Amino acid sequence: MTIETKNAGRRRVLKGLAASAGAAAAASFLPARFAIGQQAKLRLGLMLPYTGTYTALGKNIDDGLRLAINEKGGRLGGRAVEYITLDDESDPSKGADNANKLVTGSKIDFMIGTVHSGVVMAMVKVARDTDTMLIIPNGGVGAATGALCAPNIFRTSFSNWQPAYAMGKVAASEGRKTAAVISWDYAAGKESTDAFSQGFAEGGGQTVKQLFLPFPNVEFQPLLTEIAATKPDVVYAFFAGGGAVKFVKDYAGAGLGSSIPLVGPGFLTDGTLEAQGDSAQGLETTLHYADGLPFPKDKSFREAFKKATTRDADVYAVQGYDTGTLLISGLAAVKGDVKARAALVGAMEKTVFNSPRGRFTLSKAHNPVQDIYLRKATGLQNLFVRVAVKGLADPATGCSMA
Ligand code: PHB
Repeated sequence: MTIETKNAGRRRVLKGLAASAGAAAAASFLPARFAIGQQAKLRLGLMLPYTGTYTALGKNIDDGLRLAINEKGGRLGGRAVEYITLDDESDPSKGADNANKLVTGSKIDFMIGTVHSGVVMAMVKVARDTDTMLIIPNGGVGAATGALCAPNIFRTSFSNWQPAYAMGKVAASEGRKTAAVISWDYAAGKESTDAFSQGFAEGGGQTVKQLFLPFPNVEFQPLLTEIAATKPDVVYAFFAGGGAVKFVKDYAGAGLGSSIPLVGPGFLTDGTLEAQGDSAQGLETTLHYADGLPFPKDKSFREAFKKATTRDADVYAVQGYDTGTLLISGLAAVKGDVKARAALVGAMEKTVFNSPRGRFTLSKAHNPVQDIYLRKATGLQNLFVRVAVKGLADPATGCSMA
């Protein structure tokens, strides 16, 4: 007996899916406004990591984005929304093909993604080549809002420089003189550790050791041995997701936790505390989000996210949610007409709102200007300690919007 004959309900669902796939194909040949006055759905292409070390990050971005849009009745600028999702596997070598699949194959109106800076670079290139609207809900690679900045490219998260530079300042202000930095050997790891070293040097410190391993490897032991031999005053680490869980546990397991303070951008402990257990307790990190912020919007967002997903919100959920809010604002201004490009971009540039992280505004380069918070891992929370750097803007080196 086949599944279909055994389960009529499922067969109906499958038939429905086939029918809607056909309708979607037909719709792509229709103009945005149907003759009967009903508008075509607005197509959002979500290119995110749905597998691999960054899976939890991608999931929270996706859920945060949908939450914001669902709170507005599931519509953008009056148009119903269709989501087209694609797993980027955090693989830069597949980035251009995947982005082109969305833009050319799926005829999306907006491309949203992604987490991994290397994949973001491929998406930025495709967005520039095809003049597609792109919103980056995480990946912090400097060039996206620096040398490769463009009117159609926005970022709702951070640049790798922002939280890292702030941590360098904090570490120096705490009297540390020497640092070792450690990360994966790709754009985010390089930029993050360099920015830490810059802030640290400005405060009188010196980075004496730089250690890298290929993404997404987690064979940390040999590098931890080098750290133990170097004996710096502080260790700065950029890891995230599954890799951050393993690194923080291995660091404590190697006995380094009690002798050399470990610090990092907040990605080291965001969304990971439960899995890290005791090994993360007391860790200080810097980020544009924290637990225990005093904003009413943060409280309502966290309650709504928990209700929608049964999970606790983290920085990735906030970034997804704020991506939704930016879309809501931009598309409301043009009443869903994505072809009104100049008005759409202008409205997005001017968008200011209360984010769970605080006031959300964009720089001329389309990257958030934001307070960077110092946090301390306490129980299952990265508790707000103080504002480390107020209103920090990425330098946006090389950006010209012309
Ligand atoms: C990045 O690749 O830019 C990246 C990835 C994960 C993070 C933060 C930045 O948590």
